[in-house]
Amino acid sequence: MQRTKIAALLQTEPIGTAVQVKGWVKAFRNSQFIALNDGSTANNIQIVVDSENTDPELLKRIKFGAAIGAIGIVIESQGQGQKIEIKASDITIYGDCNLEEYPLQQKKQSLEFLREKAHLRFRTNTFAAVFRIRHALAFAVHKFFNDRGFFYLHTPIITASDAEGAGEMFRVTTLDAQKPPLDEQGAVDFSKDFFGRSANLTVSGQLEAELGAMALGEVYTFGPTFRAENSNTTRHLAEFWMIEPEVAFNDLNDNMNLAEDMLRYVIAYALENCKDDLAILEARLIEEEKSKPQDQRSELTLTEKLRFVTENDFERLTYTEAVEILRNSTPNKKGKFQYPIEGWGADLQSEHERYLVEKHFKKPVILTDYPSAIKSFYMRLNDGTEPGKETVRAMDILFPGIGEIVGGSQREERYDVLLAKMKAMHIPEEELYWYLDTRKFGTCPHAGFGLGFERLILFVTGMTNIRDVIAFPRYPGSAEF
Ligand code: 4AD
Ligand code: MG
Repeated sequence: MQRTKIAALLQTEPIGTAVQVKGWVKAFRNSQFIALNDGSTANNIQIVVDSENTDPELLKRIKFGAAIGAIGIVIESQGQGQKIEIKASDITIYGDCNLEEYPLQQKKQSLEFLREKAHLRFRTNTFAAVFRIRHALAFAVHKFFNDRGFFYLHTPIITASDAEGAGEMFRVTTLDAQKPPLDEQGAVDFSKDFFGRSANLTVSGQLEAELGAMALGEVYTFGPTFRAENSNTTRHLAEFWMIEPEVAFNDLNDNMNLAEDMLRYVIAYALENCKDDLAILEARLIEEEKSKPQDQRSELTLTEKLRFVTENDFERLTYTEAVEILRNSTPNKKGKFQYPIEGWGADLQSEHERYLVEKHFKKPVILTDYPSAIKSFYMRLNDGTEPGKETVRAMDILFPGIGEIVGGSQREERYDVLLAKMKAMHIPEEELYWYLDTRKFGTCPHAGFGLGFERLILFVTGMTNIRDVIAFPRYPGSAEF
């Protein structure tokens, strides 16, 4: 007999038919009622065991965590809480679960504890919901771009360039760590390395995506990126997934519209397609917030928060306007910011971003036109800004509870301006000759952005630590599993 997935069974409710289901035991009550889950849905199917006519040795093995199969007839449920159940005629045990050794328990366990048991945490309701939503969001991202005629471009994981010019790269080498070949100056000779040069894991696929956009028009990447920044925060990973669209002939305004449309689309997709999983996470959040003082609890439930984003325009303002708001804000005047805002030019910290989003505007915010000095070399210089106060056509999208979720810009398409900027910022032009070539031959205005996929999942799931929305998180001091 073919196996039926529980999601399909609950959807079609084929009362009277014989089915076979396979999954893991979530609970076993009164030696009679098994709650079985196979991962296809947040919901369990109830299996009713005829305990009087079942081998007691087999009954003993039906335990929380065990993998089993059941064959039986789908009937209308006699009990509360489910419409159908399976009256089992046959139970198979695939894998026993010794509860004395099994780290998971039927009661609630802390996220911190489960992080240490990341190889097993998929089996909890919370993490199963998170990873089903992660899948749905990835699918929605591809659907959004595909429906709009974008091409998915696979940019390299191993590169020789530093796309952000920030020097936070992991080196990729096959040289002997003990005895690397040295050059005449006594420095490691990377010309002897695997690629004949020093190479690293990519921090962003943007530069290569720009090359693609200069012929295919509209492209996007969706892949892993790596940052060797020593950030031990709830919003940083050393390995994270990024979505980077790049569009020829788009300006900053088009870029903001695209980003806003995409975020709204994928969030609406989750609301529509992940109802059961969102319900689990919403309940989890309400429970978690009970331990917080009243004034720190959120005013909206998880799904209300998501719906709010899909239904309201984001607030758009310039960096300069934002700095004025922050300078005059109560926390700044009362010395409550760890990094006080003194004037124009400083980079915004996450406390500032969160003030703007959560306290001042109470909605997602897009900040534009940042000082050139605090942004990457490839961003387009604004025309007619004062020397020393140059700004670039940058945009950062800030989300409640998250801070920066998207970073992007209109790109500097003018060869001379780009070259001058690279020189000033000590970006080696000989390494990026291929990037400069796009500005030499058939250059055009273009724009793009990067969406941190895990930050999006954080927002949609209401989870608070980025290490809980990627299966096996990589961060300083940790690369287990
Ligand atoms: O702002 P970032 O550094 O921008 C870029 O990499 C550009 N090349 C994007 C582009 O224009 N194509 O990173 C983009 C986004 C951030 O807004 C954030 O959401 C996420 O990537 N991000 C991280 N997510 C998790 N862990 C980290 N260490 C992250 N660093 C950036
Ligand atoms: Mg950024």
